[in-house]
Amino acid sequence: MKRFSLLIVALFLSFCFSFALEGMWLPILLEQLNEPEMKSMGMRISAEDIYSINKSSLKDAILLFGRGCTAEIISDEGLILTNHHCGYGQIQRHSSLENDYLTNGFWAMDRSQELPNPGLSVTLLIRMEDVTKRVLQGVESGMTEQQREQKIKANIAVLEKEATSGNKYGARVRPFYYGNEYYLFVTQTFNDVRLVGAPPSNIGKFGGDTDNWMWPRHTGDFSLFRIYVNKDNEPAEYSADNVPYKPKHHLPVSLKGAEKGDFTFVFGYPGTTQEYLPSFAVEMITAHENPPAIRLRGKRLSIFDSYMQQSDLVRIQYSAKHAGVANFWKKMIGENRGIKRLDAVEKKQALEAEFIKWAAADPERNKLYGRLIPEFEKLYGEFTALNVDETYLIEAGLSIEVMRFAYSFGQLAALSQKKDASPEELEKLLARQQSAMEGHFKNYHKPLDQKVFAEMMSDWFGHGDAVNIPAGLQTALAKYDGNYEAWAEDVFKKSIFADEARLTLFLNKYKKSGYKTILKDPAFILASAIYSHYFDKIQKDIEKLTVRRDSLQRVYMTGLMAFQPDRRFYPDANSTLRVSYGQVDDYFPRDAVHYRHYTTLEGIMEKEDPDIYDYVVEPRLKELYQAKDYGRYAAADGTMRIAFIASNHTTGGNSGSPVLNADGHLIGVNFDRNWEGTMSDLMYDPDQCRNISLDIRYCLFVIDKMAGAGHLVKEMTIIE
Ligand code: ARG
Ligand code: ASP
Repeated sequence: MKRFSLLIVALFLSFCFSFALEGMWLPILLEQLNEPEMKSMGMRISAEDIYSINKSSLKDAILLFGRGCTAEIISDEGLILTNHHCGYGQIQRHSSLENDYLTNGFWAMDRSQELPNPGLSVTLLIRMEDVTKRVLQGVESGMTEQQREQKIKANIAVLEKEATSGNKYGARVRPFYYGNEYYLFVTQTFNDVRLVGAPPSNIGKFGGDTDNWMWPRHTGDFSLFRIYVNKDNEPAEYSADNVPYKPKHHLPVSLKGAEKGDFTFVFGYPGTTQEYLPSFAVEMITAHENPPAIRLRGKRLSIFDSYMQQSDLVRIQYSAKHAGVANFWKKMIGENRGIKRLDAVEKKQALEAEFIKWAAADPERNKLYGRLIPEFEKLYGEFTALNVDETYLIEAGLSIEVMRFAYSFGQLAALSQKKDASPEELEKLLARQQSAMEGHFKNYHKPLDQKVFAEMMSDWFGHGDAVNIPAGLQTALAKYDGNYEAWAEDVFKKSIFADEARLTLFLNKYKKSGYKTILKDPAFILASAIYSHYFDKIQKDIEKLTVRRDSLQRVYMTGLMAFQPDRRFYPDANSTLRVSYGQVDDYFPRDAVHYRHYTTLEGIMEKEDPDIYDYVVEPRLKELYQAKDYGRYAAADGTMRIAFIASNHTTGGNSGSPVLNADGHLIGVNFDRNWEGTMSDLMYDPDQCRNISLDIRYCLFVIDKMAGAGHLVKEMTIIE
């Protein structure tokens, strides 16, 4: 009876309440801003259990992984978990034709087999602190932006120095709410991080770019690493004598799963969101920047595809490049659709109209905020033209690989012309260029790049009435009578930067007079025209406008807060540690279509296609499926759950973040969002936005049953 009535109450609550699921919250403010709501949604732990500086808390298990992902500690021996796509670079670097870990997976069967990764680091947050008052000390309202900037910079330097003196920590002060608040982050960075395990690509990347950004999803997107430290449990450079790290906290792993309505939260490092932009900015991004970028990337991808289909070598050479180009391409398509479907621009316009009225109703407010919206309008008028120029320059001009590569030899040419350049200096630079050259040509296919050149130039010039094309390119094209193919052919025939053998010879016998060859190379000449156009005609103006925009946005932010006193504001993501919370939830993407909140192994078998690279099913996985041999990792209904969705507000950088349940136990690993929800970086829609997580039970099943690496599961704290 009691259980029944509780259920009724819970159902009633979930119908009546629409929880404010939007937001990426600062861990130190949870107690003040979010704890009551989190508890009403079912959370059984406290804000202090999530973030504390007095006792060990969940934050002691959360890591910034490499440059842009999140990872979490899952054993008391420093074992860490992140996405396959986050560890991809490391897995690839350890792979060779004989030991193809990318294709076949990698599992260290004991500690001695764990593989070091020079250059990879992970960072823990020790503590954070509101330092707004001290950062803004001496900042006065009459100051110019430049004076303000200088004062703030000086104050920050003092704070950062203070926070790191007498200890081995790092410290950074970051602005929040567009410079209305500042927080200090004290961190500890570990540099000996070893690869422990990765599933084969047909699990870790199952569905590939085809399924990317989409639900329903069946990707086993995880990999395992371990932190090593010196004998005092302190960070140290790699050494064979280092030992596994003993963390203050590691996440217990729950086998209880996630069902619809369950409370969940994501703890990690979201990169960038822009939720408080004016309508003009959203219009600029979605109507003017995204469309040419989408079109140009689409053209590039179809060139990649056609060459990758013809050759296995080219497929391997361009797989990471393809994934990178495709990821943002697909994201922008989803973002534009979502913004349109939400009427986001119109909604922002309506808000701005109200804001103007509100400001006008009071002389004091009018003085502060009255001119903001018209100022924004004027600013974005100028900004849009520049940003469109920049978009073409980057997405067309600099997407031609030989352009960026040729330009990188400018330094060598400059040094060679310097009379007092020492032979050692020249020697050093030459060696660097030689090794860069090897890296470049390892993954380079000249005919493909030549085709990209012709197509990109043709598209860029085809829009010459709307964008400014670098003068040097216009003169160059004149010689070919508008024939882009002929132009491309000539450049790629003549340039030493498109020809590995010729360039190798040139560098091997390099003499100072070689600068003449560089300066008259046709690819170098074109690249210089593109870059100098960028530096002279775009970059400086963008910088100026950015300063103006930031100062307007800073005032707008305080204006919005005063205008909507009941709204709970969260700061835009800025690669600092945040908590997002929500519920496991299904959604309706279009009329009549319902997406359930989880996927199963059945779905992998449904997608199986031995002829399509993205849908080949790992044979061992198939055996286990046929035998229904899931052990303790099966869900209560006997299925093997692969992934689930929830309404946690996440963005790029949240990949690899732990998804935790009401008890703070690990139930999943975040790795993506649904396509219908990718506009959440500009405007969140609780109806359509879902984060996609790997079900931790599938992860353990793959480690234990499929790979036979059960010793790793034994290290973890498992809650059955
Ligand atoms: N869309 C995800 C994110 O933005 C995953 C990207 C990696 N996966 C891929 N198939 N490219 O990072
Ligand atoms: N896939 C993204 C990442 O790598 C996560 C997202 O954008 O939702 O961080």
